[in-house]
Amino acid sequence: MSYLARNDRPADKAARYAEVEAEILAVLDGEPNRVARMATAASMLADAFPVFFWTGFYVVDDSKAEELVVGPYQGTLGCLRIAFGRGVCGTAAITRQTQIVQDVHAFPGHIACDPRSVSEIVVPVLDASGQLIAVFDVDATEIAAFDDVDAEALERLLAKVFSA
Ligand code: SME
Repeated sequence: MSYLARNDRPADKAARYAEVEAEILAVLDGEPNRVARMATAASMLADAFPVFFWTGFYVVDDSKAEELVVGPYQGTLGCLRIAFGRGVCGTAAITRQTQIVQDVHAFPGHIACDPRSVSEIVVPVLDASGQLIAVFDVDATEIAAFDDVDAEALERLLAKVFSA
């Protein structure tokens, strides 16, 4: 398995995503449990990209209106609950749009779970019926660690793992 640094070429990063996507789908083949699928995706993505400092899911809490609760993740202690509309995760949940934040200090309402996180990407996760089930959050300790290559690759990967 090859490991890429943050400043590798976009084509290399896209190729690494394609590789890890195939690996994740192979491991998950036949496994229907959603927690197992989330835990496996978080673990394998965190392992594939050294820049991923916090990697994981905030899931829609069906018992509370418009609130996310922490799900499977890799990294330091994450906040437990995030209301829809709050922070980067809550914004992704309410808009259903991927959020790329180059510098969290410039994002109004950013929730600082770990002060070492300075940039992030959050991708909405939908089930097969198009229902929002979670958001996938990746934080990095470097400014501007994520771009459109990450967004496109993660959107495609998460659709294959959770919406297929
Ligand atoms: N950064 C997120 C909070 C979650 S943690 O960073 C793990 C946000 O502002 O939504």
